[in-house]
Amino acid sequence: MKTRGFAVEVIDKVNKMQDRAEVLRTAGKSIALVPTMGYLHEAHLELMRVGKRHADVLVISIFVNPTQFGPSEDFERYPRDPEGDLRKAKSVGVDIVFMPTVEEMYPEGFQTTVSVARLTKHLCGLSRPGHFDGVCTVVAKLFNITKPHIAIFGQKDYQQLAVISRMVMDLNMDIQIIGVPTVREPDGLAMSSRNAYLSEDERPSALSLKRSLDLAEEMFKQGQRSAKVIKEEMVRFIESHPFTEIDYVSICDPVTLEEIDTLGESNLVALAVRVGNTRLIDNKVIGNTE
Ligand code: PAF
Repeated sequence: MKTRGFAVEVIDKVNKMQDRAEVLRTAGKSIALVPTMGYLHEAHLELMRVGKRHADVLVISIFVNPTQFGPSEDFERYPRDPEGDLRKAKSVGVDIVFMPTVEEMYPEGFQTTVSVARLTKHLCGLSRPGHFDGVCTVVAKLFNITKPHIAIFGQKDYQQLAVISRMVMDLNMDIQIIGVPTVREPDGLAMSSRNAYLSEDERPSALSLKRSLDLAEEMFKQGQRSAKVIKEEMVRFIESHPFTEIDYVSICDPVTLEEIDTLGESNLVALAVRVGNTRLIDNKVIGNTE
């Protein structure tokens, strides 16, 4: 299916996408996939540019996946802009947009879940039960539907990237996963579709996430190794901003995501903070970033 006025090929049916991917593979073309929930912004476009450099054909998916939202979360009001998305996709050279309906992805009788056991028991997994099961299940489906050789994800969702990499390893999926550094607004705010929810009054408080990560890094550079002391300072800093409500501030092992008491060579500092009604996340690896 082609959308009038756009050269980008849009496919909304699972079997058509699978056939198209098979034809490409048979012709010897490599496929890169960038899975998205749409409402595309510069950070998505950066993932797409990376995908473009790594494969012959760039496929993106646009699908607001209901199974990764909790009952009181923002599935219904999640921002959507399909026309704008197609324009942006075209501007970075996307070849195919896979844009299915919920019924197409989860037909009646659907009952399978892909679940990564331990990595999901930390950070966002604690406050969003079932979230990563929804993510893994839809990403596994998207892999089976678009048949990519590589798939690209943002490091802003550090835990998501870790969980998906684990799933790919554990299930022997023959797909290379690439993580792309977080893209930020000029003032440092990590780009996110949910930034659109922030009011003008709340926007300055949203900067406290990135600034608290910088603060943690600075304390580490000054020799502080106590996770408790660094977290207390981060909490104090964030809470000095109006509209903020901390979900978690964690300092953990960058591989297992388990909390640590004493910082070592390489440490993940990750946090989730509600600013007004908007839940924002950010993270930084401090120390050795290799
Ligand atoms: O990061 C996202 O936008 C989503 O979690 C993803 C990977 C597209 C799965 O729905």
